[in-house]
Amino acid sequence: MSEEFDVVVIGAGPGGYIAAIRAAQLGFKVACIDDWTRKDGKPAPGGTCTNVGCIPSKALLQSSENFAHAGHAFADHGIGVTGLTMDVAKMLARKEKVVAQNNDGILYLFKKNKVAFFHGVGSFAGRDGERWKVGVAGAAPAELAAKHVVVATGSKPRALPGVPIDNVRVLDNAGALAIPAVPKKLGVVGAGVIGLEMGSVWRRLGAEVTVLEALPAFLGAADVTIAKEAQKLFAKQGLAIHTGVQITDVKAGRDAVTVAWTDAAGAANTAAFDRLIVSIGRLPFTGGLAADAVGLELDERGFVTVDAECRTNLPGVWAIGDVVRGPMLAHKAEEEGVAVAERIAGQHGHVDFDTVPWVIYTAPEIAWVGRTEQQLKAEGVDYRAGSFPFSANGRARALGDASGFVKILADRKTDRILGVHMIGPMVSELIAEGVVAMAFGAASEDLARICHAHPSLSEATKEAALAVDGRTLNL
Ligand code: FAD
Ligand code: NAI
Repeated sequence: MSEEFDVVVIGAGPGGYIAAIRAAQLGFKVACIDDWTRKDGKPAPGGTCTNVGCIPSKALLQSSENFAHAGHAFADHGIGVTGLTMDVAKMLARKEKVVAQNNDGILYLFKKNKVAFFHGVGSFAGRDGERWKVGVAGAAPAELAAKHVVVATGSKPRALPGVPIDNVRVLDNAGALAIPAVPKKLGVVGAGVIGLEMGSVWRRLGAEVTVLEALPAFLGAADVTIAKEAQKLFAKQGLAIHTGVQITDVKAGRDAVTVAWTDAAGAANTAAFDRLIVSIGRLPFTGGLAADAVGLELDERGFVTVDAECRTNLPGVWAIGDVVRGPMLAHKAEEEGVAVAERIAGQHGHVDFDTVPWVIYTAPEIAWVGRTEQQLKAEGVDYRAGSFPFSANGRARALGDASGFVKILADRKTDRILGVHMIGPMVSELIAEGVVAMAFGAASEDLARICHAHPSLSEATKEAALAVDGRTLNL
């Protein structure tokens, strides 16, 4: 006998757990299935984001930044630190604690919202009239039935062809978050978001980090002026970033991993690293779903095919998050989860892909929303640009962290903001103002006229908006 629900969500990452909660808020009887398991065998809902992604990476970024500050920045404040040590095991244990708090938080939210949680692998088990049957394989097998199924099964790391991830020498994101001691030499393949964040963590703790990127341009998705500034600042910190690289061989031995590559000029290089992080993008994950058995359509790259509203080719089956097209970001997955739950309820759920922010949690942080200057040029849009450096911002100077700038791009005729780009202290938080402004269709003059607290980093955003009209006050 199947247990009856209105909505069954497969996957409890940020897409799935949020979809389940929103559907429950809307009055549906909801089940959510997730197979992630803690070392102690307990369920660990939260997906990649909570277990081996956003949350643990930010925990390690914070620990390593604290260490770096104690080692370098404190001296400027007159604070002397002697005998500074780093207990990597303790740092990793703290990270695990932060992760477990988030796992437990999701279980609490499920209880609070009366979402039935099933720990195990969910798979399509056929159709019965208008209802989909979904099996749960695990310690407590079950069969569920529902008119609506939301597939939120996420993504998995992409490996280099012929180079297996062993998470001893060759690491994916999970391995990169659990290196037991600071490596002397760390190699990173891919200068994307994971490569830069994880490379920063281990560099701050003392590793000599070499990043090997295939593309000729560094951080091609970011605004070109931001990418240039970032490359300059990261190089100054000691991150050796090589672009235009082609990896020709990777050999993992007992104590080291040897990497061979040709550089941008075509010259052959080799280096031996204690560990190698492979962060060359992620692939959609549909294993275990039995997608074939019910004819769930996947595209040639393995993503579940969906329309603009996350409908798959099967009636009542929706898909969201990393397993479908669009940026692989937790907040994008969450927005789709909310929108799908609302669509199931007959409402008009909406995700505005034009205002999805990007944040890279390096130091300085990088954040942007909307279009880059190079995109506007390519599209032939007539725009004005205004920038303001944190070196002219009083709060940034007081913080002792005044690198980077804020840049605003606005339509020349209408002044509507088309993009906001930031590199600097705490811009992961500052970018929200740009997102709100763009979501409300604000003009740069709107931002320029709004009263911003003094002294605050947010004044740099106001000044960048003033700069669009060539009238900064503090520069
Ligand atoms: P996932 O989080 O991958 O969750 C899918 C869940 O479904 C998993 O628990 C999986 O085990 C489960 N599952 C799969 N198949 C089945 C099945 N058949 N039955 C039951 N359960 C199943 N994004 C950001 O926005 N900000 C960040 O700072 C950030 N940092 C990141 C750092 C790293 C190192 C990585 C790897 C990613 C990071 N991301 C970040 C990306 C973010 O983690 C993903 O975009 C997000 O987790 C996608 O959410 P999702 O719900 O689609 O899938
Ligand atoms: P990515 O797409 O950000 O970067 C991968 C990089 O590897 C690219 O620059 C690519 O050109 C390069 N590359 C690809 N193949 C290569 C090869 N053979 N040799 C050398 N370089 C190669 O992917 P990444 O860093 O693996 O992260 C996956 C996703 O996770 C990101 O796209 C992002 O969506 C998400 N994420 C988000 C974070 C955030 O929001 N702060 C943090 C970490 C991950």
